[in-house]
Amino acid sequence: MTGKLRHPLGGCDGFEYCCAVGVALVTGASTGIGKATAIRLAREPGTELVLVARREELLRELTESLPCRATYVAVDLTDADAPQRVRAHLEAEHAGALHLLVNNAGAAWRAPFAEGGYDNVRRHMELNFDAVVRLTGELLPMLRASAPSAIVNVASTAGRVSRARTGAYSASKFALIGWSDSLYAEEKPHGVHVGLVMPGFIRTEGFPATELREKALTRWIVSEPEKVAEAIHECGPGGRAERYVPRPYGLAAISRILFPSLTRRVLTGGAAESLTTKTAGD
Ligand SMILES: NC(=O)c1ccc[n+]([C@@H]2O[C@H](COP(=O)([O-])OP(=O)(O)OC[C@H]3O[C@@H](n4cnc5c(N)ncnc54)[C@H](OP(=O)(O)O)[C@@H]3O)[C@@H](O)[C@H]2O)c1
Repeated sequence: MTGKLRHPLGGCDGFEYCCAVGVALVTGASTGIGKATAIRLAREPGTELVLVARREELLRELTESLPCRATYVAVDLTDADAPQRVRAHLEAEHAGALHLLVNNAGAAWRAPFAEGGYDNVRRHMELNFDAVVRLTGELLPMLRASAPSAIVNVASTAGRVSRARTGAYSASKFALIGWSDSLYAEEKPHGVHVGLVMPGFIRTEGFPATELREKALTRWIVSEPEKVAEAIHECGPGGRAERYVPRPYGLAAISRILFPSLTRRVLTGGAAESLTTKTAGD
């Protein structure tokens, strides 16, 4: 189907929660949370999906396996022309409609600042923040024209609480959260809902959390991408403003505000060391 979609949210009442999706674009859809989100959204009637990531073969396989119409754009989101390429694809293949943008692509490369320096901070910002802002800027006119619509930004609990060796990653996610809160207020009058999802430890390719899963004491704190996918769906059009996944991770954010000294003591002790996992980028 290439014609303009009848608005999928037509039957819904303002910003009341509504499960209909319409044309949904998911970045970082080749693996992990993005892939689980594509599979989750594909279950909703009337969904058309646009999947974005670098690995074309994985995107092709996923689009072919989904029960709804799905197309893909294989692109490095940090490339200068990536946002324009994605917009051109939406115009050519989905009649310029966009009801849900899920900014999920991201990565972490652990290093203390003394070793990773500015280069490591820049690398995180380019993918986890700049690429999100650039893509959103390019697609915002489409989201407004398709309103009621939504943007869901996948940040992290690390965007509320920072640990040693995760400073560059946390900086990019703190930035994403601050920007998302502002965008929420700015876009509300335009019918573009902005949702924020903050996962804790989720077992994926880029964040395997192997050390945590190996120990009985910490295994239980590692969750699954499908749980985050459900939260992303809940934060879509007319949905929630924010969700921690799993929910108890929100306590870390509360503790950082209410008990800063205690939180700092915990985060510089041995417990924090065992909670700083290695990643595929290490
Ligand atoms: N898993 C966790 O514990 C956890 C916790 C908090 C937050 N998060 C956040 O959740 C999001 C998804 O991560 P995940 O856990 O699902 O990890 P993942 O399995 O490694 O997925 C990352 C996705 O991003 C894509 N990607 C990476 N660099 C890209 C680039 N330059 N251009 C386009 N796409 C790119 C990857 O696809 P290609 O390699 O094919 O490009 C992949 O689809 C990230 O923003 C992450 O920060 C994860």
